[in-house]
Amino acid sequence: MQSRIAFLQKNLAKLQEVRYNKKYHQNRKCDIIMKIAIITGASAGLGKEYLAAAPQYFPDIDEYWLIARRQDKLEEAAKLVNRQCRIFPMDLTKEDSYRRLEAELQKLTPTVALLVNNSGCGYLGNVGEGELENQLRMVDLNLKGLTAVTHVTMPYMEKGSRIINVSSIASFCPNPRMTVYSAGKAYVSAFSYGISEEAAGRGITVTAVCPGPMDTDFIYLGEIKGNSKTFETLPYCDPKKVVQGSYKAALAGKRCYTPRAFYKLYKILAKLLPVGITMKMAKT
Ligand SMILES: NC(=O)c1ccc[n+]([C@@H]2O[C@H](COP(=O)([O-])OP(=O)(O)OC[C@H]3O[C@@H](n4cnc5c(N)ncnc54)[C@H](OP(=O)(O)O)[C@@H]3O)[C@@H](O)[C@H]2O)c1
Repeated sequence: MQSRIAFLQKNLAKLQEVRYNKKYHQNRKCDIIMKIAIITGASAGLGKEYLAAAPQYFPDIDEYWLIARRQDKLEEAAKLVNRQCRIFPMDLTKEDSYRRLEAELQKLTPTVALLVNNSGCGYLGNVGEGELENQLRMVDLNLKGLTAVTHVTMPYMEKGSRIINVSSIASFCPNPRMTVYSAGKAYVSAFSYGISEEAAGRGITVTAVCPGPMDTDFIYLGEIKGNSKTFETLPYCDPKKVVQGSYKAALAGKRCYTPRAFYKLYKILAKLLPVGITMKMAKT
């Protein structure tokens, strides 16, 4: 019985691979296939570190496609790598951005060897207070933008392609005062696990990365710095180490990477303890 199931699973995976390759190769316009990496939020913070370290871990990537709103910062970041970079100054909360990415992929038909969904924002404040725009921006960027970029990119992936989705320790349990952010990151992690299973037959791996606080623009833009006791007490993560750890985890085919022993333990506790208790600890 077990060998029969294994046989069926193997053939289903083969069928999936053939189906995707057929659709993909029908659109190919030339024989030389360019291998690219797409990094969102490459203009600052963690995304810039993902870009800087990528050639060391993915030496066969020919071109980097860099996405964020600030063109000048993307151009500056592009100097970090000794490779061709294509700059996409766009706002991923807007539908025309991922439609443009989709059109560019259709035109050039590259192989996407690496996708790093890193763009993100987080704002402190209770739901029902402060600006509605901030709550909606988190949904539009962290959930909708990430989903759309992944959806339009996946048809251009092949066996060995990697997806890294930047989630957060906020995904482990709801964080009152950052409820939309933490619920959104729970989506990012669940989405990553789901597509990792869907894409396993094609040999694509998906890794959700769950860092703790990092000293990047994020904590200033979201007015978190100086306004949250939790953020003041928690140990910070070094963005360079987070990137190294996530590339290693992605290359090893791991579904999740959480830096620092402290946060690994927190993840286990958040699974074991009732949500009413963990939420009190996780209140930002
Ligand atoms: N810092 C932390 O404490 C922390 C902790 C856990 C997880 N994270 C996650 O780590 C990821 C990276 O954040 P970071 O800490 O590096 O913060 P950051 O320095 O503020 O970087 C955020 C990046 O996202 C881009 N971005 C923002 N809004 C965008 C939009 N509408 N469209 C396209 N790109 C946009 C920004 O570029 P432009 O401004 O040029 O658009 C920037 O490159 C995020 O997903 C965040 O949720 C951060």
